Amino acid sequence: MRASWPTCFACSRNFRYWVFSLIRGGNTTVLGDFSWPAAHDVDAFAMGIGDPIAKFRVGQELARRYPQVEWPLVVHPTAYVGNGVKLGKGAVVCVRAVATVGVQLGDFSQLNFGCTVGHESVIGAGSLVNPGANISGGVILGRSVMVGTGAQILQYVKVGDEAQIGAGAVVTREVPPGATVVGVPATQKALSTSDRRL
Ligand SMILES: CC(C)(COP(=O)(O)OP(=O)(O)OC[C@H]1O[C@@H](n2cnc3c(N)ncnc32)[C@H](O)[C@@H]1OP(=O)(O)O)[C@@H](O)C(=O)NCCC(=O)NCCS
Repeated sequence: MRASWPTCFACSRNFRYWVFSLIRGGNTTVLGDFSWPAAHDVDAFAMGIGDPIAKFRVGQELARRYPQVEWPLVVHPTAYVGNGVKLGKGAVVCVRAVATVGVQLGDFSQLNFGCTVGHESVIGAGSLVNPGANISGGVILGRSVMVGTGAQILQYVKVGDEAQIGAGAVVTREVPPGATVVGVPATQKALSTSDRRL
């Protein structure tokens, strides 16, 4: 956890940020706690949490406890955000990511470096699209979905809440909630751990 005062890409305002970080290893460690912002001057929240399930939960809890604190949109200047794109609070769009017309990015969702999201797709709250992944038009990702590096999701496919799409997978059909799919075409795979929940 650290406090810093960077400038928001989107509006050029300076904020006093509270950055909530989470490190995963053998154990999960949360740096900082939910009471810290109450004792400090915080204008805005930004999260750097890689796990989409944890990110959504932490975001929800922060928003519930501190409704007065802003969640500025973090959109890199090299990203392309098309007409009619809706961005939820705390959404992050990284370097060279592309969201074409009518895309909806849910609260605390993230488009990582160089991924593309096609027309009218919905990226659910907390979901993470990793570098180089391509999501075709009309795709619906549920909440806290992880799309692996370089994965492809074909048009109008639905992906359930908390599902994981493996790196390099080509998803051609609906993915059930909580499932992990890998390969070309993507098929369901059992997890190495019985429970990935935090
Ligand atoms: C799919 C994924 C979530 C599975 O993670 P996991 O449950 O820890 O998987 P494991 O490493 O235990 O592997 C389980 C099996 O799936 C296979 N597998 C894992 N990822 C795979 C992938 N992307 N494509 C094909 N097979 C894969 C493993 O080889 C293993 O096969 P086996 O049972 O025959 O030995 C993960 O491998 C993945 O692709 N994550 C994306 C990472 C990413 O893009 N990060 C972005 C960083 S910026």
